[in-house]
Amino acid sequence: MVTTLHRPVCDILGCTVPIVLAGMGGVSRSELVAAVTEGGGFGFLGMVREPVELIHAEVAALRARGVARFGVNLIPAATDPKVLEAQILACIDLGVPIVGLFWDVPFRLLARLRAAGIIVACQVGSRAEAQAVEQAGVQIIIAQGVEAGGHVRGDRPLHDLVPEIVAQTELPVLAAGGLADGADLATVLSFGAQGAVFGTALIATPESFAHDYHKQRLLGAHGADTVLTDAFHINWPLGSRVRVLANSVTRGERGDPFAQTRTIIGDEAGRPIYLFSTESPLRAMTGTFEAMALYAGTGVGRITDIVGAADRVRAIAGEAARLLDAHAAAPSEPAELASPACLAHEMDDSYMGFASREELLPALNELLEAERAGARVTLATTREMTGDNQTALILSIHRDEARWCGVLTKAIRRLDGAPSAKTGAFYDKAMSISDQNERLTFLNRGQGWVVRKLKALLPTIRDPAIHADLAAMLASHERNIDRVAANLPATKSQGALS
Ligand SMILES: Cc1cc2nc3c(=O)[nH]c(=O)nc-3n(C[C@H](O)[C@H](O)[C@H](O)COP(=O)(O)O)c2cc1C
Repeated sequence: MVTTLHRPVCDILGCTVPIVLAGMGGVSRSELVAAVTEGGGFGFLGMVREPVELIHAEVAALRARGVARFGVNLIPAATDPKVLEAQILACIDLGVPIVGLFWDVPFRLLARLRAAGIIVACQVGSRAEAQAVEQAGVQIIIAQGVEAGGHVRGDRPLHDLVPEIVAQTELPVLAAGGLADGADLATVLSFGAQGAVFGTALIATPESFAHDYHKQRLLGAHGADTVLTDAFHINWPLGSRVRVLANSVTRGERGDPFAQTRTIIGDEAGRPIYLFSTESPLRAMTGTFEAMALYAGTGVGRITDIVGAADRVRAIAGEAARLLDAHAAAPSEPAELASPACLAHEMDDSYMGFASREELLPALNELLEAERAGARVTLATTREMTGDNQTALILSIHRDEARWCGVLTKAIRRLDGAPSAKTGAFYDKAMSISDQNERLTFLNRGQGWVVRKLKALLPTIRDPAIHADLAAMLASHERNIDRVAANLPATKSQGALS
C-alpha cells in the first residue's frame, strides 16, 4: 500500500501516504493532527487568527506526542496585521517545518518564511494563482476545487483545475475539495496530483475540535445540501465565499448579513460569536449553532459515520491502493501531452483542407463537454458499485476521460480559445438509467460517438501536437469500448457500438 501510494511529496512532508489534513481554522488542532500523523498522513494545524500562545501550546503538544513533521496554516487576508506578525515570528521561533498559506498571499511573507528555512505550501483556486505563487517561491501547491468546504478561492471544478496546474508546474500539487474516500484519492493521483487534502471528511472524527452539532449535521447531509455563499463574512474580506450546509442564514431567514448592527449568537470562553461571522461551532462554544457557518464540501454525502482520524486515513489509503493496484494489472497507455507552445497563428489554413481555428474550437469544446460528462458518469457509477474488479475498470476509464478533459483543455488554450465549462447532456441521460449494465451500454454508445467525431476530425487537423493527442484519444476510446463490452452481458455489449 505504502509503495503504491508513495509520491515525492511524502518525502517533503514526512508522511507515508499522501493524505493531508486541511489546516481548518478552529477544527484542526494538535489532537487531530496527531491522529492523522499516526494513520500515516500529514496534518496542518488551523491557526488562522489564533493568539501566539495557542500556536506555542499546540506545537508543544504535538512534539510531546512525538510528531516532528507537521504544518501550521495561516490566512494573512483574514488576520489583523499585528497578530499575523506575531504568528509568523512564532512559527520561525518554533522552527515549524511547514507553513500553509491561503488567500491573497503577500509574496514578501513567503520569501521571509523560506529565508527562515520553512517549507511553504499555498492553496490556490486557479492556474494563474498557481503560476504567481510558484514564481514567488512556494514549494507545494494545493489546488482547491470549487467543491471544497470552507472558504473557496476559485470557481473551477477539481477535475479541470488539477490537470491544468499539473501540466504547468514541476512542483508537487495536492488536490483539495469534495474528496472523501479512497476512490477520490486514486482519482486525483490519476490527474497527476501527488496527494489529496481532506477537510470535511476529517471533521467527522472524535479528534476534531468541531462541536458535536457540526459533526452530526455532516452525517445527515448530501453534497446537494451545500451552498456557496458570502453571507458569512465577519473577519474576512467582503465577497469571500464559503461552502456551508444551507441553513437559516443562507435562506435569508436571519436578516441582512450586511446590516450595520451586530447580533451575538454564541460564546467561546467569554468571547462573543456574531451572527454572519465565519466561525463554525467548536467544542468550546455555546450558542445557536444552527445559524453558524456549518462548513461542508460536496463530498459530505459519503461521510456517514464518525471514525477515528487514524482509521479514516488508513481506510482511505487502503481503498486507494487497492483500486490503483487493480488498475495497474490492466493498464491503458499513457497519453502524450501537447507541448505548451501556442501555434494559434499557424492554424488558419482552411485553404489546404485543414479545419480553421474557428471550426476546430467548437469541435474541441463539444468533445470536452462530452468527456467531462463521461468522467462524471464513470465516477458516479463507481460509487454505486460493489465488486472491486468492475469498480477498478470503470475507475480506470474515469481516469482516462479525466485525462482527455485535460488534454482537450490544453489544445483549446493552445488555439487561444476558451475551454467550455459545461457538461454534456450525456451526463443527465446516463444518470437517469438506474440499471448498471444498461448505463454501461449507454456509456459505450457515448464513447462510440466520440470515436466517430475523432475519426472525422483527425484528417482536418494540421497541428502535429494536437493531432497526436487526438489520435491517442481515439485509440484509448476504442480500447475502452472493448474493455467495457467485455464486461457486459453478450446482448448488451453487441449493441454498444451501433
Ligand atoms: C471547517 C473548515 C475550516 C477551514 N478553514 C480553513 C483555514 O483556516 N485555512 C485554509 O487554508 N483552509 C481552510 N479550509 C479549506 C480547506 O483548506 C480545504 O480547501 C477544504 O477543506 C477541502 O475541501 P473538503 O472540505 O471538501 O475536503 C477550511 C475548510 C473547512 C471544512
